[in-house]
Amino acid sequence: MSQAQPVGYETLLLERRERVAIITINRPDKRNALNIKTREEGAALLEELRTDDSVGVVVFTGAGDKAFIAGADIGEFAGRTAMMQRDVMTSRSLFTAFDTFPKPVIAMINGYCLGGGCELALACDIRVASETASFGQPEINLGIIPGGGGTQRLTRLVGEGKAMELILSGDIIDAKTAYEIGLVNHVFPADQLEAKTMEIANRIAGKSPIALSLAKEAVKLASRSNLDEGLRREVDLFALCFSTADKDEGVTAFLEKRKPVWKGK
Ligand code: COA
Repeated sequence: MSQAQPVGYETLLLERRERVAIITINRPDKRNALNIKTREEGAALLEELRTDDSVGVVVFTGAGDKAFIAGADIGEFAGRTAMMQRDVMTSRSLFTAFDTFPKPVIAMINGYCLGGGCELALACDIRVASETASFGQPEINLGIIPGGGGTQRLTRLVGEGKAMELILSGDIIDAKTAYEIGLVNHVFPADQLEAKTMEIANRIAGKSPIALSLAKEAVKLASRSNLDEGLRREVDLFALCFSTADKDEGVTAFLEKRKPVWKGK
């Protein structure tokens, strides 16, 4: 049974299970649509968890069994000027907050994953979906385009042809198709989604936090730099590991045939 608790945020719940923090957007009656409050609270909660050493991995999901997130809150679009919208996307970017979060983030996708919801999942590190989930960038149907990274992150993940078709058509695809094009890492029956996601989260949360952070930074470089620059920076980050207590512990533990006890330093 869920132990998710309100944590002083109107739109979010937080549950801690050992070293995994589960953040749930809690607006199921609005299909967890992203309004300004959710964006601000999400960024603030991530800021709290960033320096919380008891948290190794974040799982991000939506409340209820219908939606992960059905996109930006369309009600807020009415009457909004270009400059206002630009400010929402830049000064309160939940997408950037996830992208730059120094710990692994797993999107646990339990239903509609549309528009800004799909873009938020794309800003996470690993995407795990239930068989009942569906995906799309339907902004074109509103006479707009994706603005939370969809044209960039989706294209880098699934390739230009698939991304272009999804964005131009606004078509919704099912979880199986999302898996086939590489949009999600795994698809599980709905009743196993949480358990399977937690298995992955716990496995990762058992690694050195500092190595996880450096590994995430290095992998993200691949789609943001050319090969020479990426390889150079990978070597720097790899070498940085050799200044950590966790590298000493990992190597010593291997040689002593025991499990490492990470210090996160
Ligand atoms: N923004 C604001 N409200 C939204 C929303 C969104 N993106 N998505 C759903 N809601 C609201 C609906 O307006 C409705 O509110 P109401 O009960 O006050 O009328 C409630 O959530 C339930 O939505 P409903 O459409 O009745 O649920 P459904 O299960 O039949 O359909 C969707 C779910 C997601 C298919 C449908 O709501 C939808 O198409 N949403 C918009 C998706 C979209 O275009 N996202 C991109 C935005 S840029």
